[in-house]
Amino acid sequence: MTIAQATMEVDALLLDRAARRGLRGHGHVEPNPMVGCVGVDTEGHVVGERHHRIVGGPHAERLLIESCGHRLRNGTLYTTLEPCTHQGRTPPCTEAILEAGIRRVVIGCLDPNPEACGGADLLRSAGLDVEIIEHQPSQALSAIFRHRVTTGLPWVIAKWAQTLDGRLATRSGHSQWISSARSRRLVHRQRGRVDAILTGIGTVLADDPRLTARDGRRRRTARRVVVDPDLRIPRDAALLQTLGDAPLTIACSDSSHAGKPDRVTELAGAGVDVLPLPPVEGRLSMANLLVHLSGVHNCSTVLVESGPGLFGSLMQEGLVNEAMVFVAPILLGDGEAMPVLTGFAPGTIADGDSMTLRSMHRRDDDVLLRYGVSTGAGTSP
Ligand SMILES: NC(=O)c1ccc[n+]([C@@H]2O[C@H](COP(=O)([O-])OP(=O)(O)OC[C@H]3O[C@@H](n4cnc5c(N)ncnc54)[C@H](OP(=O)(O)O)[C@@H]3O)[C@@H](O)[C@H]2O)c1
Repeated sequence: MTIAQATMEVDALLLDRAARRGLRGHGHVEPNPMVGCVGVDTEGHVVGERHHRIVGGPHAERLLIESCGHRLRNGTLYTTLEPCTHQGRTPPCTEAILEAGIRRVVIGCLDPNPEACGGADLLRSAGLDVEIIEHQPSQALSAIFRHRVTTGLPWVIAKWAQTLDGRLATRSGHSQWISSARSRRLVHRQRGRVDAILTGIGTVLADDPRLTARDGRRRRTARRVVVDPDLRIPRDAALLQTLGDAPLTIACSDSSHAGKPDRVTELAGAGVDVLPLPPVEGRLSMANLLVHLSGVHNCSTVLVESGPGLFGSLMQEGLVNEAMVFVAPILLGDGEAMPVLTGFAPGTIADGDSMTLRSMHRRDDDVLLRYGVSTGAGTSP
């Protein structure tokens, strides 16, 4: 192995470490990117690691530099994202790097934000040795941020629990519970880290869910969102009975909104955000709903916990970024039982939508599979 190859290997390992550290920010830092950093001194010893901890708080690079002090002088900074050049709620990270006398900076991925990018060039022109590495874990770490900056849309994670023969529920709509208690705890943890949880009226009528994070430490409170074209949500629905626990948006058709003014007034009076959506080819545009969630409610992440109808709509519009699938060791053996999604009729297997497997974990007797969808940009933590 040459010295250059060995250096590349060490660089990749230290960026892996920085990316693992950055994951700690999930649910705390969005809409900011998750970022992790590792500092190495002139002898090659790791002298510190830090991550971006809280939205509006100091960036990972500044936290690292503060914690390492003079030990980083002439040393190397590993960072999953290009250091920022702009004065936002905190001063530019490039300034802190120059003041700290760091010699070398290794970057896992470039900053997609036009207001903050350019840090690599700035540091290079100041005489630092700057390496930009195509580092997959760093890209996955900033995928949510990159997606929102480049598309204006939140990152959509479709989550479902299915039987071994690929069914979401029995033919009568019974689905509680397919996955194990341990799998469901993980879902509650995920609910406590996203900005919104999206479902359809079919699931509300069948399961009467609350869609709150009740198990595990909650890092943020997700807005519950229901696609309910005809405003059929029952008055005693658990979602309406728990408005004090988390906000609720109901997306309906503009014709229902205009045709049921009393219902709209009643819901809005109770504190529900009632959102009329105009029809696009006879359906409600889920893209318009996501634009509303991003633009009005500042949502970066949306967890979908719906049945086949809404999941099919989101897939048809190409809006799903990631799938989180719990496969339980149950066979229903009923061709009429509920499938994972509807609305597609490919003629051949090659015409089906394909996904990229990112990880597999066993949880009791369930298997959790995580897939990258449509953008192929990775998975969130
Ligand atoms: N195993 C699991 O993980 C899991 C999770 C959640 C739910 N479920 C099960 O799924 C079943 C419910 O499935 P579902 O398909 O009825 O419920 P759903 O997907 O939650 O909601 C379907 C509703 O949303 C509407 N909708 C979807 N996309 C739309 C669009 N673009 N424009 C307008 N309306 C749209 C549908 O209208 P149209 O009828 O006009 O299409 C339908 O009324 C229940 O049995 C529940 O237990 C299982």
